Amino acid sequence: MAAKRSTPSDPSDSISSVMKETRLFPPPASFAATAHIASFAALKKLRAKALRDPEAYWDAQARELEWFAPWKRTLQWKHPHAQWFVGGKINVSVNCLDRHCATWRKNKAALIWEGEPGDTRTLTYAQLHREVCRFANVLRSLGVKQGDVVAIFMGMVPEAVIAMLACARIGATHNVVFGGFSSEALRERINDSKAVLLITQDAAHRRGDKVHLKKASDAALSECPTIEHVVVVQRTDERTAMKGGRDHWWHELMDAASAVHAPAKLSSEHPMFILYTSGSTGKPKGILHTTGGYITQVASTTKMIFDLKDDDVFFCTADIGWITGHSYIVYGPLANGATIVMYEGAPNHPEPDRMWSIVERHGVTIFYTAPTAIRSFMKWGESWPRKHDLSSLRLLGTVGEPINPEAWMWYHTVIGGKRCPIVDTWWQTENGAILISPLPGATPTKPGTATLPMPGMDIDVVRKDGTSCKPNEGGLLVVKHPWPSMLRTIYGNDERYRQAYWSEFPKSRTCAGWYFTGDGARRDEDGYIWIIGRVDDVVNVSGHRLGTAEVESALVSHRSVAEAAVVARPDEIKGNVLVAFVTLKTEAARGADLVTLREELRDHVAKEIGHIAKPDEVRFTEALPKTRSGKIMRRLLREVVAGAAISGDTTTLEDLSVLEKLRSGDDE
Ligand code: WTA
Repeated sequence: MAAKRSTPSDPSDSISSVMKETRLFPPPASFAATAHIASFAALKKLRAKALRDPEAYWDAQARELEWFAPWKRTLQWKHPHAQWFVGGKINVSVNCLDRHCATWRKNKAALIWEGEPGDTRTLTYAQLHREVCRFANVLRSLGVKQGDVVAIFMGMVPEAVIAMLACARIGATHNVVFGGFSSEALRERINDSKAVLLITQDAAHRRGDKVHLKKASDAALSECPTIEHVVVVQRTDERTAMKGGRDHWWHELMDAASAVHAPAKLSSEHPMFILYTSGSTGKPKGILHTTGGYITQVASTTKMIFDLKDDDVFFCTADIGWITGHSYIVYGPLANGATIVMYEGAPNHPEPDRMWSIVERHGVTIFYTAPTAIRSFMKWGESWPRKHDLSSLRLLGTVGEPINPEAWMWYHTVIGGKRCPIVDTWWQTENGAILISPLPGATPTKPGTATLPMPGMDIDVVRKDGTSCKPNEGGLLVVKHPWPSMLRTIYGNDERYRQAYWSEFPKSRTCAGWYFTGDGARRDEDGYIWIIGRVDDVVNVSGHRLGTAEVESALVSHRSVAEAAVVARPDEIKGNVLVAFVTLKTEAARGADLVTLREELRDHVAKEIGHIAKPDEVRFTEALPKTRSGKIMRRLLREVVAGAAISGDTTTLEDLSVLEKLRSGDDE
């Protein structure tokens, strides 16, 4: 089944382990016949032209949108700070809504939503526009001003989309926090961003159960001094405590609000949203995206990569709490006037065919999901998709981690009926939009590679000294020229921004100063880019990006723990699972019931961060392998959990016996 993959510390270590994939899938002629970019030759020409003059390329893309005032300068680049479409005035909600309401799309379905219990709701562009205008007025009436930060802690309900668009309409900066996070994680993200208002819901339906979002919010808010108001959507029949003066019901405020709202004329560089993501240190990074550049690149990539047409029904299975949900559920498709499908619950509720039943009932034409989901579908078996008519599908997509060729082939055969192209899209929270992807009517695909950089992107695989790698030589993935939807900084921590992304290849006499992605990659003889994995301590678990340092600091915050090191172990379904090595404080270790403590520690991490971060395994050890300067050698721990022979250099290891003990597992 799933091919074994790894997240090496040095990408060149693992090149030999990457499978050679020789299968080539040209775009079906019938697909290419109507595609926006209809041949490989056309794409190559476009890429070459854009590479010669990226600013002219992006200038043309930005002109596809509606602006209140044109920009005076396309790009102002003062390394490492970019400004795009300087002087331009724009509003994202106008581009996603008002623009379409002025055409026949007014009564086209913008959002087809399905709740987990089976209830559905459809909002046309005109209806969505009215709801967004109403909520924009609600936000203003609660005192939210342009530039204020609004936190959104919700499940997958239409109100989450309405809330995001309403923020964009008034120029409030949204900070969406994934609904699966714990109250501690929510509190940290509210306080770091100094949010003034929180939008949440009583509870969300998930796998037949309920996730108590308002309760978690209340716990967080006991220590969030900046929050003045909380707006609560009533999604379930849960009894919900409301705090007088602070908490308001969404439906009551909306009933009283006017559906007329004049959009704010925002400057292109107005801060549009903050989205927290994991880095290689304990504290999550508040990735800041701005307005004009973000919407330009998101709109343009959605149209090209998903070959979006007016009769498409686009279903992206991501959660709006992640960047994929921001860019390819909400902003990209709506900016293109598409019909989006949004689903509230678990993919296997009530049965493992829920996704396929949605595809069949709503006539989904484009389906975008993650490799980890595909591997779960494979595990559940072909019989579930076979029960449904999937003939409406014409295009499939994946995102979030390298897709192993077996999963690709299964997706192609069982879901795509061998007729749908697959777009394997590479990008990051920091990028805002897809940067590497095939175009479905143009690029011949190979299972396991995101293929080529998008037009307008200057991307390379380089050695540590900055020289380009030879074909099939492993190296570091860098972006050499700024792009419109790039992050602008880490909110409140510009120094960390410079350090995390711009210090590996700094500006010098020989280098213009490049963005380092944190990914290792190789380019094959056709120039296709194969992602090998992260080179830092960031791990992909079920398509969620986690910093092992965050999990470590959660563990160390437990009273019994002295020290912890967390590494990833490759897993067939989840991509990776986390394994924690824990040393206990002496008094805690004495007579401790390790079985109970192990569960307690796993629950502790769930409480501190959320269930997604729960280690699969906790191993107790007397000591951790360290360098003489005291750094934990996670590379060795990774090899221990993978069961591999210790291959790398151990000369800096302080105490070799530690490693021997860890390998033989006699520490308990
Ligand atoms: C990984 C998700 C291989 C990569 C949009 C990146 C991928 C990290 C792919 C960003 C892909 C994403 N093939 N690896 N198609 N897409 N990745 O910020 O390691 O949650 O750096 O953004 O996911 O994860 P993030």
